[in-house]
Amino acid sequence: MKFFIDTANLAQIKEANELGILDGVTTNPSLMAKEGIRGQEAINQHYKTICEMVDGDISAEVLTTEFATIVEEGKKLAALHPNIVVKVPMIKEGVKAIKWFTDNGIRTNCTLIFSAGQAILAAKAGATYISPFLGRIDDSGWDGMQLIEQIAQIFAIQQYKTEILAASIRSPNHIIQAAQAGAHVCTCPLEPILGLLKHPLTDIGLAKFLEDAKKM
Ligand code: E4P
Repeated sequence: MKFFIDTANLAQIKEANELGILDGVTTNPSLMAKEGIRGQEAINQHYKTICEMVDGDISAEVLTTEFATIVEEGKKLAALHPNIVVKVPMIKEGVKAIKWFTDNGIRTNCTLIFSAGQAILAAKAGATYISPFLGRIDDSGWDGMQLIEQIAQIFAIQQYKTEILAASIRSPNHIIQAAQAGAHVCTCPLEPILGLLKHPLTDIGLAKFLEDAKKM
């Protein structure tokens, strides 16, 4: 499973990248706004900076909802750097735009996936990635992991090339379960990634080894 970090924060991207396990970055308008990135020039520059930091797929989200404007915006984002993947919302105009991008060699990440039907449509349109938001599904009292399992089963049966990008991840356990459920990629904030490192027996074991090392 590939690891993407879900942030527009450059310090966190750097820290995850230095771990040596990072395959890409996802952003969204909320994450960009949180970092105070405003205006098209600043947005484009931020994407370029991320692309120069991380050798992997960098999702940049379109901010429009009509086919023609999504295509125009996506073409400009894709032209910023070869690593850019255009993030398109799961709406009717978005599906049409994903098909256009597919036919024109531009890679896409279909975002805001909350059902298997939406995942099938995006895969049929040729999306490179689909992003089911498992944390938000859990937040609303449903089971996000069940959706990942269902999509993984359908994509395997149908031999779709589209990769399942488990998004809206909230905990280390989400990452483990997404890997087990068949997600090709997980995207999450830095904290759940670092959470995977932790085990009290590791800490106790290391303290004992370091103590005994003094007797060597
Ligand atoms: C990633 O592509 C999504 O935009 C992101 O994972 C959403 O996460 P959230 O539900 O924590 O906002």
